Parts: sequence; structure tokens; C-alpha cells
Amino acid sequence: MDKLLTIISEHVSSAFLAAGYESSYGRVTVSNRPDLCEYQCNGAMPAAKAYHKAPIQIANDVAVQLRDDAAFSEVQAAAPGFLNLRLAPAFLAKYLEQTRTAPRFGVARDPKAGTVVVDYGGANVAKPLHIGHLRSAIIGESIKRIQHFFGNETVGDTHLGDWGLQMGLVIAALQDQQPELCYFDEAYTGEYPAEPPFTISDLERIYPAASARSKEDEAFARRAHDATYELQQGRPGYMALWKHIMAVSKADLRKNYDKLGVSFEVWLGESDAQPYIPPMLEEMRQSGLLVESEGAQVIEVQEPTDTKEVPPCIIMKSDGATLYATTDLATIRQRMETWKPDRILYVVDKRQSLHFEQVFRAARKAGLVQPETELRHIGYGTMNGKDGKPFKTRAGGAMRLETLTNEITDFVRAKVEENTLVTGDDVADTTAKIALAALKYGDLMNAPTKDYIFDMDRFAAFEGNTGPYILYTIVRIKSILGRYGAWEELPITAPETPEAKDLMLALTRLPDALELAYRDCAPNAICAYIYELAGFANKFYHETRILTEEDAEKQKGYIALIGLTKRVLETCIDLLGFEAPEKM
Ligand code: ARG
Repeated sequence: MDKLLTIISEHVSSAFLAAGYESSYGRVTVSNRPDLCEYQCNGAMPAAKAYHKAPIQIANDVAVQLRDDAAFSEVQAAAPGFLNLRLAPAFLAKYLEQTRTAPRFGVARDPKAGTVVVDYGGANVAKPLHIGHLRSAIIGESIKRIQHFFGNETVGDTHLGDWGLQMGLVIAALQDQQPELCYFDEAYTGEYPAEPPFTISDLERIYPAASARSKEDEAFARRAHDATYELQQGRPGYMALWKHIMAVSKADLRKNYDKLGVSFEVWLGESDAQPYIPPMLEEMRQSGLLVESEGAQVIEVQEPTDTKEVPPCIIMKSDGATLYATTDLATIRQRMETWKPDRILYVVDKRQSLHFEQVFRAARKAGLVQPETELRHIGYGTMNGKDGKPFKTRAGGAMRLETLTNEITDFVRAKVEENTLVTGDDVADTTAKIALAALKYGDLMNAPTKDYIFDMDRFAAFEGNTGPYILYTIVRIKSILGRYGAWEELPITAPETPEAKDLMLALTRLPDALELAYRDCAPNAICAYIYELAGFANKFYHETRILTEEDAEKQKGYIALIGLTKRVLETCIDLLGFEAPEKM
């Protein structure tokens, strides 16, 4: 389905042509003076230069041609040469009726859609899930859903940090606590127990303690390093322990992500990329791409066009250890072999932007991807506390994700309980939905790259630019529709009031908002759009007697209009990754 602006631009272009001017001057935009008109065309100004005429004369010529055009109810030439346009109500209704009945509201799929891997989440196994990973999960989930909406096959991969020093730290600490366990006995040849020797709460205590200890106790740090090395060499007891750590951590992560409405198609991690490293290094060596620099093996990635220094990508240290970049390169190889993606999107802290620049350049040089494969880092900023510093607990430590979601939930529950509409079992469900909307919208309304301040009072408010306000708008419409009865088949009719028309015009802007969000990987474009749309919906609701309207035909039109509004809002919040309750 063509966009409304495209259609009316065609009308105006034909009018330019009919008046004896080139049609290319007929581009129409949304008016920047809504008090004067809904749409405008400024083409008469540049045309005036080409035709050596006064712009107002050209605008007048074109206006004459548009006088009988059924698309417009008003066409005015205004000094110095603007064309001010208002849409004909019937034309608008016909267009929105197509929107209502078309699949996906007539929003065109990306003709170049293909397969997209979205790398997000990025939690580190054995370490508790921190706020730092919250943004990746929230933004990544939304970007993945937007990619899917535009026709791409999407693979969300959480790319667990599961192969690093944290594993050795946990193993070394466990050995101190329970040296008798069979995992540490090198002579042991039996089966390892199926039950892990620790719970998630044990792990949550073990890792931070071990990490702190390694900073003071050199011998312990050495042992943790050695354990990491031996694990990576495949020592059976350590591998068995590692599997336990993975299983226990993943179950806990899954629980957290479920609550966040975040789900991954695959749960691969750094460990899964390891088998790809040796053959990849061999190729890099043979092609002469790997060069030695201060004992390390590196790939030079500086380009002559660079204005600043881009240091080489270090692939292997002098002691033979591989690095974060090595794993990311091997992961690219793995993904290309598994899914042949057209695009890989990395939703990772923006402080890692140099890392990704180096990795992407090295991947291209090494031929790990096709020249047309898009590699893109969507770097996000920091979530700060009200003091403008990275968000902390009251005690000053890094806040655990679960603590934060619990705090928001308690805060919202108090509001829900005050509200008489929801009672009994519904309280928990409604609370969870509102809390999630508050948290996610509070994040997603900002451009990903921006730092933002976490402010529970503001995020959870039922008024203003917030998630709960959007939900409230939807719930209110649902309640009217519920009282009205069957509404799903009612057609959109010509607007009866200015508020109805404003709401309809806002609905026609959906494709632009979604396309912007898709192109720029910017869920904030959807937030901005639904905030505007909800505003028009609420204005319409306040100014219109919907359920008490006596003219049944008029009423049907009102109901069809809010029905479409509800569906659009619900689709948009689904793309953001949350949903509305029945009541609130
Ligand atoms: N685990 C990493 C971290 O906590 C994030 C992983 C991001 N993804 C990637 N392919 N490097 O910083």
C-alpha cells in the first residue's frame, strides 16, 4: 500500500504538470503550520527560479488544477508561494479503511529483507545479571521484533559470556570450600553427578567473593587462571563443573528474561565459538593477514581515510591466549556457516564501539563475511541514577536486575491496589504488565546512544510520556469497545469532528514512524509516535460522546476509529516488547 504522502504528492505533481510545470516540484510534506493547513507543498519556490516567474503565480496555477481534486477539501496558494492543503474527509476515510483491512496496516515489507542475527543480552554466566545488561535486553528485543515486522527472518542470540576467567574463579573457590568433590580428583574416572553441587544463590555468593579475593590474594588469582586454562583445555572434572554452572545460571537467566518479555531463538555463547578459532587462525596465518606486533599476533585495521588512530585487532597474545575479539571473529564465522545472515546487529554498550570497529574491519579483511553483509554495532548509553552517575543500589553496589524489577513492581502494585478496578488474582498480572511497560518505555523512549536517568516516579506515572500512559489509553479504548459490542468489522467513515480528523491523520503517519525505527534501529521513533497518537486518541475521547451517541451510523464510525487506534497502539507496544492489561 502506498503511503498517504506518496499518493497526495502524485496528485499535486500531476497538477504541476497540467499547469505546464515539471511534475517533480509536486512533493508534499506534513504541514509545519498545523493551524493553517494539514499538508503543504513548497515546490513553487524552486520552480519560480527555473521558470522565471513569481512563486505565487505558479502556486496559483497549480491550485486551479487542484480545485476539483477529490483528495482535497481545501487548496490555497499563500504568499510567497506555498500550497496549503487540507484532505477531503471522504478521501481520508477511504485511505484509512484500506489501512484497517490490509495486513500489517499496509506497511510495506523491506523488499531487501533477508536473515538478521541480533546479538543482544550478552549476560556473563556465573555473574549476576546487572543493570548494564538490562538495556541490551530491552533494546535488542525491540530491534529484533522491528526487524521481523519488516519481513526479515530473525535469530536472536544472547551470546553468553561463558568462557572467561569467571569460570576459573568459581572453580577455584569451590575447590577451597569442598575439596573432596570428585570434580577435583584427577584420577576420577566414574560418571559425574547429574545434580549440581551448588544452587544459584550459592553461585551468586561465590563469584563476587572469589572475584574480590583474586584482587588481594595472588596465589588464589594464579589458581583461578590455571583453572580457566585447564577448563579451556578440556579437563573432564572442570568441564563437568562448567556444565553445572551453565545449567544453573541459564535457568536463572531464563527466569529473568521471561519476566522481561525477552526471549532468544538461540542461547549460544563464547564457548560455542571456540572450535571455530583454530581453523580460522590457520587461514589468517596462511593468507598473511596475521602479523606479529610486540610478540602478539594482530590484524592491522587502520585505513588511509581514518582521521584517528585505529589500533590493530589483537588476535592472539604472546602466551597463545586468544581474546574477546578472536571469539567475536570466530562467532561471525559460525553465524555465517549456520544462518548466512545478511545483517548482524550487535546491541552492546557503546563503550565497546572501538572493539566492534576493529572486529568488523578484521572480519572483512579475513573474508569472514560477504562484501554486502551488514555488520552494525548499536551502541547504547548508560542508565544513570538521579545523581547523573551510573545507577547503583542504595548501598552503592551495582544493582542486580532482579532487585530493580522487584522495586518497580512493588511501586506499581501500590498504585494498582489503590485503584478499585482490578482486584484479586488480576492484581499480580496487571501490576507486572504496567511495571514492564514503565521500565521498557522509560528506556526505549530515549535514542539508544543516549545516557538516561532512571526515575521510577516518572516512568511509572499514569500521565505524561510514559509506558503506563500508553497502556491506560489502550485500556480505556478496550473498555469502550467492550461495552459497545462487536466492532471488528465496522468500516472507517469520514471524520465528523476536528478531533476525529486529527486522530485519523495521526493514524496515517504509522508507516513513517515504523520505517524510521527500522532504518535507524531506533525504537524511540515508535515511542514518539505512540505518544503523539495516544494524545490525539485521548483528545478525541474527551471531546466525543461515543457510547451515548444517538446517531447509530456516526457511532459506528467512532467505534471503528478507536478500534483501529487500539490495534495500532497494540502493534506498536508489541514491537517495543510489552503488552496492555485488560483493566487498570
Ligand atoms: N558479555 C559481553 C559483556 O558483558 C557482551 C557481549 C556482547 N556481544 C558480543 N558479540 N561481543 O560485555
